[in-house]
Amino acid sequence: MVSIETSIYLDFLSKFGVGGAHPGGIQLTKEIFKSERITPTTHILDVGCGTGQTAAYLATQYGAIVTGIDINPVMVEKAKTRMATYQLPVKIIQGSIENFPLKDETFDFIISESVLSFVKKPRSLTEIFRLLKGGGRFIANELTINQRIDPSNKKEITQFYGLDSLLMERDWITLLQRTGFKEINIHKQEPITQQNLTPEFYYSDYIEPELYTIMNQHVYIMAKYQGILDYRVLLCTK
Ligand SMILES: C[S@@+](CC[C@H](N)C(=O)[O-])C[C@H]1O[C@@H](n2cnc3c(N)ncnc32)[C@H](O)[C@@H]1O
Repeated sequence: MVSIETSIYLDFLSKFGVGGAHPGGIQLTKEIFKSERITPTTHILDVGCGTGQTAAYLATQYGAIVTGIDINPVMVEKAKTRMATYQLPVKIIQGSIENFPLKDETFDFIISESVLSFVKKPRSLTEIFRLLKGGGRFIANELTINQRIDPSNKKEITQFYGLDSLLMERDWITLLQRTGFKEINIHKQEPITQQNLTPEFYYSDYIEPELYTIMNQHVYIMAKYQGILDYRVLLCTK
């Protein structure tokens, strides 16, 4: 049984079934994978796969062997429905990346899109490293702050999103290095335009009334911390 400590923001994402719930959305995902070598024999893990949009894309576009893991049962159900609807052989598992029951060196590629910010990072990165084959690639698109912020602002952000901590680019790099990753690069950052920010929605039958205000609160926090709350796409090798 997976113990799930969720945030109201993650509850909102799951009940509204937001697909591509990461900076740049599925368009950025597609662009990043263009520079990677993915074939039908590549084993890929999508950590915190949400409703499975990226996992489905990787299976469809490259014919890769894809597994998705997510801790949230609503997300898992929606991802499974997606794979069944499009008859995609993508395995969706409910579980936590902090403690994943698969053997060492299972995957050639692991991707996390807006997930590590929510979890215990050293523990999760150790699991990701363990699950990757030698020479395997890890790509993380994660929330990053551009400058240190004072404790009250930090509390506002971490409490709303249910984040473990807020990291700057150099903190991410240090963590990846400490885990053992090599050849750490940052994907060239493009400003995010509205054009590539069209999320997908897959609504639950019942949505708690309090979740309807969460989107506005998210937009408010993004606007308040514009220029500070940002993201980085970190690419590295085991
Ligand atoms: C912001 S959403 C991103 C979902 C998806 N990657 C996307 O881009 O649409 C974060 C996801 O991480 C999942 N998550 C949070 N903690 C997790 C954990 N410990 N293990 C696995 N998934 C987790 C949440 O349930 C949620 O689906």
